[in-house]
This record gives sequence, C-alpha cells and structure tokens, in this order.
Amino acid sequence: MNIVAAKGLTKDYGSLRAVDNIDFEILKGECFGFLGPNGAGKTTVMLIIHCYMPPTSGDIQVFGLDVAKSPSLIKSRIGVMPQENNLDPDLTVFENLIVYARYFDISKRVSLSLAWELLDFVELREKAPVNIKSLSGGMKTRLLLARSLINNPELLILDEPTIGLDPHSRHSVWDKLNDLKSKNTTLILTTHYMDEAEKLCDRVAIMDSGKIITIDSPSRLMSMYKGNLEEVYLKLTGRWLTGEVT
Ligand SMILES: Nc1ncnc2c1ncn2[C@@H]1O[C@H](COP(=O)(O)OP(=O)(O)OP(=O)(O)O)[C@@H](O)[C@H]1O
Ligand SMILES: [Mg+2]
Repeated sequence: MNIVAAKGLTKDYGSLRAVDNIDFEILKGECFGFLGPNGAGKTTVMLIIHCYMPPTSGDIQVFGLDVAKSPSLIKSRIGVMPQENNLDPDLTVFENLIVYARYFDISKRVSLSLAWELLDFVELREKAPVNIKSLSGGMKTRLLLARSLINNPELLILDEPTIGLDPHSRHSVWDKLNDLKSKNTTLILTTHYMDEAEKLCDRVAIMDSGKIITIDSPSRLMSMYKGNLEEVYLKLTGRWLTGEVT
C-alpha cells in the first residue's frame, strides 16, 4: 500500500523551480531516503508531504488523502523532525513535549506519561527539568526526535535526523529508527550521509536540482554502478554529493 504517492510534483519559489516535476511512491513500512546536495529540493518535498505548504502543481496523496483537501487529518497521523531546531527556548525539555502534545488534543494525563516514555526512548530523562538553552546540539536533536513521536505517528518525516551528532549519538538514533521501523512505522528521511542511507533506507531517491535522477534500493544501485553510494551519486550526476565538480 502507498503511504505517499506524488505525480508531476512541482514547487516554485517565485522564479526559482525548487522541485521539478517529480514522481515517487512510498510504501507502508519502508524507510525511504531523499539524497542530494544543498538546495536539491529535499526539504521542500518534506514540507509539501506534511502539508506545510502546497505544491505549485502536480498531485500528491498521503495515506490516500489529497494534501489540499485533508491537511488536518494527514497532519494528525504524521510526525515531523524538522531540519531547523524549532523547540520553544522559553520552556523546559519536559514542557516542550507537553505543549506539543496539545496540538494533537492529547489529554494532560496521557501526555505526562508519554513525555516520560519518550524522554527514556531518547535517553534524556535526567534533562527533563532543564531549559532548552542548556542542552547540547545533539541533545536538542534527540529531543526533536522524541517530540516528533508524541502523536504515535504512522509516518515519520526526518529532515537530516543526525546532522551534528557525534558517532555514538548517530548510532543511537539509527537504532531508534530501526526500532520504529520494526513496529511498521513508515520513515522518510533526507540526508547527506551515504552511510546513513545505506544503513537505514530500503530505497532512496537521488535528487539533483529539483529532479529525481533515480529511485532504487542502495544495494541495487551499488551493484549496478559498481561502487559505494558516493560513487553512485558521482556517476549519476557528474559530481560528488559534497558539490565538487569533476
Ligand atoms: N522559502 C523559500 N523561499 C525561496 N526560496 C527557497 C525557500 N526555501 C527553499 N528555497 C530554495 O529552494 C531550493 C531548494 O531548497 P531546499 O531547502 O528544499 O533544499 P534541500 O535539498 O533541503 O537543501 P539542504 O541540503 O541545504 O537542506 C534552494 O535553491 C533554496 O534556496
Ligand atoms: Mg534541507
């Protein structure tokens, strides 16, 4: 079953075409990655999927529902870990979770126990009473992951989920994402890290300049192009993902 189906999806910001006529389908329970350099259009696609903004043209359905017609219903079933930290800096770690739960009409009683459960999940229980300002960058990232799970989402969107994390924290986030996957949560992530894509993703869409160059499993791409994902990217686009021109 398709969780997301997009056809001819296009997004213009004024005269700039950020997403250029792309088609993709994301299946229930899979981890689907969008890979591409800065400005490829990855975040723009994520924002459209979670109904933050409409596409300029094209069709997109999430859970079989049209994003233009049923945004509230779609949003209630999605968790989002944004690329930019948008935690409330005036609140504590615990309060950030409780306040966020209100957007989903979760009762105070339920949100209190959920918040502790999620803080345990991301190993931040002891930070519950501290202000956001006194968290390290990696801790903020883990709290964003916890917050994205407050509504028990069927679909989790992760925009660069491990950027800025140390190797230990990256592995611990990967373990948690694998836990969620084993519970049949569908995951969509963007990343620049090829090892992350290889470890987590069942399929990846390779993006460049708003277009999808190809969609396939990392293992098939690596065997077809005889190299690791970095080399696959180079062969497909003529440049390294880091932006170096050959
Ligand atoms: N709100 C906006 N207004 C105007 N242009 C925008 C806006 N958001 C993004 N863009 C432009 O759209 C293009 C795609 O941006 P997007 O953020 O989707 O890329 P990305 O693949 O997520 O990049 P990164 O890896 O840096 O996060 C870029 O050229 C960017 O400058
Ligand atoms: Mg982005």
